[in-house]
Amino acid sequence: MNDFQDWARGVARDMEHTLSDLLPPPDVEPQRLHAAMRYATLSGGKRVRPMLAFAAGLVTEAHPARVKAVSAAVEFIHAYSLIHDDLPCMDDDTLRRGRPTCHIEFDEATALLAGDALQALAFEIVSTHNLADNPATQLHMLHHFTKACGSHGMAGGQAIDLANVGKVITLPELEFMHILKTGALIRASVQLGALCGRALRADEMVHLDRYAKCVGLAFQVVDDILDCESNTEKLGKTAGKDQDANKPTYVSLMGLVPAKRFADELLADAYDAVASFGDSAIRLRQLAEFIVRREN
Ligand code: IPE
Ligand code: IPE
Ligand code: MG
Ligand code: MG
Ligand code: MG
Repeated sequence: MNDFQDWARGVARDMEHTLSDLLPPPDVEPQRLHAAMRYATLSGGKRVRPMLAFAAGLVTEAHPARVKAVSAAVEFIHAYSLIHDDLPCMDDDTLRRGRPTCHIEFDEATALLAGDALQALAFEIVSTHNLADNPATQLHMLHHFTKACGSHGMAGGQAIDLANVGKVITLPELEFMHILKTGALIRASVQLGALCGRALRADEMVHLDRYAKCVGLAFQVVDDILDCESNTEKLGKTAGKDQDANKPTYVSLMGLVPAKRFADELLADAYDAVASFGDSAIRLRQLAEFIVRREN
């Protein structure tokens, strides 16, 4: 596990440089918008999605420069989704990664636009960097990525999340919401990381995708558990928000202990999904464990 921590720290550190280099410089006009984009993206965040892309890239011997580019793109979408998620019209949060949220530090309009611009930057990267030998593969990657972000992915999941405030929904409905709002981008991180390397056989792709789906769902189940069980200092965001905002979560629907058991089942399933990859999937296995056992 120590070896994993070193690896994870290395990816996070590298990512910080990559993101900073790809973001518009703070002294270039419009400076306030660029400052907000940089504020929301840099200095903080676990960088789990880049780690997943790198771990999947290890399975396919992907070129690190390519994985770096897709990781940055995914992380820009993630940063944008958090800026918008925290806005008063959504979760109305004032704390993120231990600092004031983007709209508190800047203003709502700037935060909205920073999210918009980060989204555009992400698509610019996936469409302009060399990510695959075959242009058709790169187009395929772009397609996966756009679907993961749109109304059949993260944005759709967020819409369902807001529509469900104060409602009692069924477990399949909750699962659908979580798969979209968080699972889709995590799944795309794994897919895109892997696609930066050698082509996988169809059966290998199915295994990797099963892993990604389990981990994507587990990520949000654990986020729900931490919101209920952890504290604001550890999380760097306001704890207990889901209950306060009357959001249906795995904890509110199942209870804390069954939700934890469900996360463990997803972890076991994720392990099982990549068993046939042997040693090349060691980081994927360690990351699944990290995602389920994390404390923030
Ligand atoms: C938080 O994501 C929002 C969800 C999708 C649950 P992370 O827990 O990955 O947030 P950072 O990037 O580490 O701050
Ligand atoms: C956010 O889910 C999912 C996104 C697409 C950003 P949450 O609303 O639970 O995320 P946190 O708890 O604010 O980080
Ligand atoms: Mg939310
Ligand atoms: Mg939120
Ligand atoms: Mg949450």
